[in-house]
Amino acid sequence: MLRSRVLRKRLLEWYDRAQRELPWRGTRDPWRILLSEVMLQQTRVAAVIPYYERFLVRFPDARTLADAPEEELLALWSGLGYYSRARNLQRSARAIVECGEFPRSFEAIRSLPGVGDYTAAAVASIAFDLPHAVLDGNVVRVLSRLTAEQGDVLDKRRPGDFNQALMELGATVCLPRNPQCMLCPLLAQCAAHAAGIEAQLPVKLRARDMVRERIVLCLAERPGRVLMRRRPAGEVRLAGFWELPEAAHLRTAQRTEMLGQFRHSITRHDYSVEVWRAKVNKAPAGFRWVSREEMPRLPLTTMARKALALAGRKAASEVD
Ligand code: ADE
Repeated sequence: MLRSRVLRKRLLEWYDRAQRELPWRGTRDPWRILLSEVMLQQTRVAAVIPYYERFLVRFPDARTLADAPEEELLALWSGLGYYSRARNLQRSARAIVECGEFPRSFEAIRSLPGVGDYTAAAVASIAFDLPHAVLDGNVVRVLSRLTAEQGDVLDKRRPGDFNQALMELGATVCLPRNPQCMLCPLLAQCAAHAAGIEAQLPVKLRARDMVRERIVLCLAERPGRVLMRRRPAGEVRLAGFWELPEAAHLRTAQRTEMLGQFRHSITRHDYSVEVWRAKVNKAPAGFRWVSREEMPRLPLTTMARKALALAGRKAASEVD
């Protein structure tokens, strides 16, 4: 117990001194904290920051999101991926509005749509100082290297800072490869370091094999417009999002020039995507000639964004 008190104190002192300035730190507003935790569920800190800031300009509280059209929400989320997070967040916003206030217990937070044990513990501890421990990949790694004292390390007086301090240590010092042990506030307590096995912990589970697939996208243009397809409501992934047509969708299209290729990975799929300029006379059912002005307001799939960016770079290089 003494060791874990020392450990908590060292960790919190280190966190107070060394934490990164992140836009969701220094707030106790549960709405902002929920948003940050939902965005951080499957996305890295650096990628989340600009989305988080833009999102809050438009949706500073649960009510604004509860009342918003889904398409606008998805347009602001577009590029972050895992869009069910956005839809669940809107359902949570509606539940919060209906309740009259943000729920204040772990169980009530946990019952919001899309909120699991991890996110509920993070929000409960950071926004309300409730003593719930979080366990994400970083935290598991730090604990697995540290000691067998996992059970009782949470600091009950500063649980939110304690949770974030462990996440921070995992993100900046106790790295998966090349852990920066000389910068670690817990070096003296670290069993893995004492045994010289920090680089081997935690034991890695074998990554599931990726499924490779080739996709051919068609860029069909009219002056100021691009042919796009809205993914139908029944799609498992990305329903309602706009994408570039695949060659398989446009049987009569004439492909004229390969504009380039890129890789795109989603969960277990590793796509090799070719982008072709194509001639299309008539938009088939379910397709639309979308104007360039309208495009920033539409939720585009990340694959479509990448393809349009590639085509834009190609066009710019031809003008030079
Ligand atoms: N990852 C998940 N939640 C986080 C937080 N609050 N701070 C930094 N990284 C995180």
